[in-house]
Amino acid sequence: AGEVSTTDGAPIGVIGGSGLYEFLDDVTEVTVDTPYGPPSDALSVGSLAARPVVFLPRHGRRHTLPPHRINYRANLWALRALGVRQVLAPGAVGGLRPELGPGTLVVPDQLVDRTTGREQTYYDGEPDRDGQPSPVVHVPFADPYCPVGRVTVLDAARSAGWQPVDGGTMVVIDGPRFSTRAESQWFGREGWSVVGMTGHPEAVLARELALCYTALSLVTDLDSGVEVGHGVTQQEVFRVFAQNVERLRILLGDAVRTLPADRGACPCGQALAGTPS
Ligand code: ADE
Repeated sequence: AGEVSTTDGAPIGVIGGSGLYEFLDDVTEVTVDTPYGPPSDALSVGSLAARPVVFLPRHGRRHTLPPHRINYRANLWALRALGVRQVLAPGAVGGLRPELGPGTLVVPDQLVDRTTGREQTYYDGEPDRDGQPSPVVHVPFADPYCPVGRVTVLDAARSAGWQPVDGGTMVVIDGPRFSTRAESQWFGREGWSVVGMTGHPEAVLARELALCYTALSLVTDLDSGVEVGHGVTQQEVFRVFAQNVERLRILLGDAVRTLPADRGACPCGQALAGTPS
């Protein structure tokens, strides 16, 4: 597939989480092959608010892929191959503090990776398709999210009637199980805000492709270290996400409309400056 042709700038990429499987009307479905295998599903190419948008359901449109089986490299590669430069990435998370209850929207500014064994780089030293050795590359990741994307999303969230939480740390676990109470209490004591299963390596792969990437963490439950009852269930996660999905769509529509087409003043596009080519 070639790049999406447009007169309105590069398309915005949206990666839908649990419960957001369709996002656009009047779409063309595009199957993209990547050097890393197939992405989670066909990509939907359409437009929203006069901006071209590419949507990809992270878990597949029938939610068949658990977090540890998602081909994150293929997903980000496919978006980039369709011309995407800015990615909005909603996802369900558990709250690690009592005040971050179900329905809260957190726009994190930090990330802690507790995953193991996930492919988290395009620069793994393997020869590329032409047999050339790939360079060893260390991208900066001190601030994992696009500052312009974050501000845009926060404004869009307020317009959509949310009182979003500006900043906080998302800790990413492998799953598919939820955390034990001890793990969850530990995460909370570290000062981390929310816990999810898909925020990494998505964010770092976006950075390696010099894409802008903004996480939108929708709290679906209080994690087991905070709540007193039986602990979080999958049912609860899907129910709360569904309750908030309309507002999330409105938010995303507004964010797509207001994201600066020139990527604003963020450093994301320079992520590979100073690394070997
Ligand atoms: N996704 C939604 N809720 C979660 C939780 N409590 N832990 C990890 N991932 C989640």
